[in-house]
Amino acid sequence: MDRYVIAGFPVKHSRSPAIHSRFAAETGEPVQYDRLEIAPGTFAAQVRAFAVDGGKGCNITVPYKLEAWQAAVRRTPRAELAHAVNTLRFDADGWAGDNTDGAGLVHDITVNAGVPLKGARVLLIGSGGAGLGALGPLIEAGVAELVMVNRTIAKAEEAVARHAALAQAHGVSLRAGALEEAGSGHDIVVNATSASLAGAGSPVAASALRPGCLVLDMMYGPAARPFLAWAREQGAVTRDGLGMLVEQAAEAFQFWRGVRPSTDGILAALRAEVDAA
Ligand code: ATR
Repeated sequence: MDRYVIAGFPVKHSRSPAIHSRFAAETGEPVQYDRLEIAPGTFAAQVRAFAVDGGKGCNITVPYKLEAWQAAVRRTPRAELAHAVNTLRFDADGWAGDNTDGAGLVHDITVNAGVPLKGARVLLIGSGGAGLGALGPLIEAGVAELVMVNRTIAKAEEAVARHAALAQAHGVSLRAGALEEAGSGHDIVVNATSASLAGAGSPVAASALRPGCLVLDMMYGPAARPFLAWAREQGAVTRDGLGMLVEQAAEAFQFWRGVRPSTDGILAALRAEVDAA
């Protein structure tokens, strides 16, 4: 069996082992997938120990996506721009890093939700590890306009500056702002903040939403509910982060194994579990 883990702190409740086990069964790939809880300050040492012990790669979650980016000797272009890595592959000549979060988000919006990104006006809230991975793939999906807002404006400005050339190449109008500068009437609004974990209200004003727009929270379960309930009150169609979670996992599986598993079955099974909880 080739061994992989989800590395983070905490990882107790991660659904990645269930998702990847299902992918392995479906594709026939000899993959075993477990959790690796990593105490603060020990990321590189613990991942190295796992690799030396025969591990083939890992997914990375909060709070280690930047450290994983630093640890990779080679990065895919989308990971390079994101300054965040959620997937490492232990190649013979060093660790290769990818960021599959944004591709998972784009796949979930366009394929699972059936909402076109091409020509859309999109608001992305949050410039942490989750938000950073989304910027490049949203640009490449051909949105017309992309606004990244964040509580700490400097982080949004830095991320937008890094993606300026890509945006120009794709004819996308890209800007950064404070939460109060979200603008109005967006077609798609993505919440990549952890504001709801802190019990905070919506990070942006209702005017940011066009009636009937799609509002997606990258979280799922109880953490996503208050923000999505607020968005529905404003007339939005809402979606949690479960589809994105499954799709980013499928992209990671492909990065490791060269085959993209189908996601319909596992998404429906997880949806039933999460909605019942
Ligand atoms: P993740 O990897 O999940 O993105 P993170 O890197 O800690 O986690 O980022 C959390 C994001 O949520 C950041 O954009 C953060 O804003 P700051 O960059 O200003 O810290 C945002 N966030 C957290 N709590 C928030 C709150 N109460 N209101 C608004 N934004 C919040």
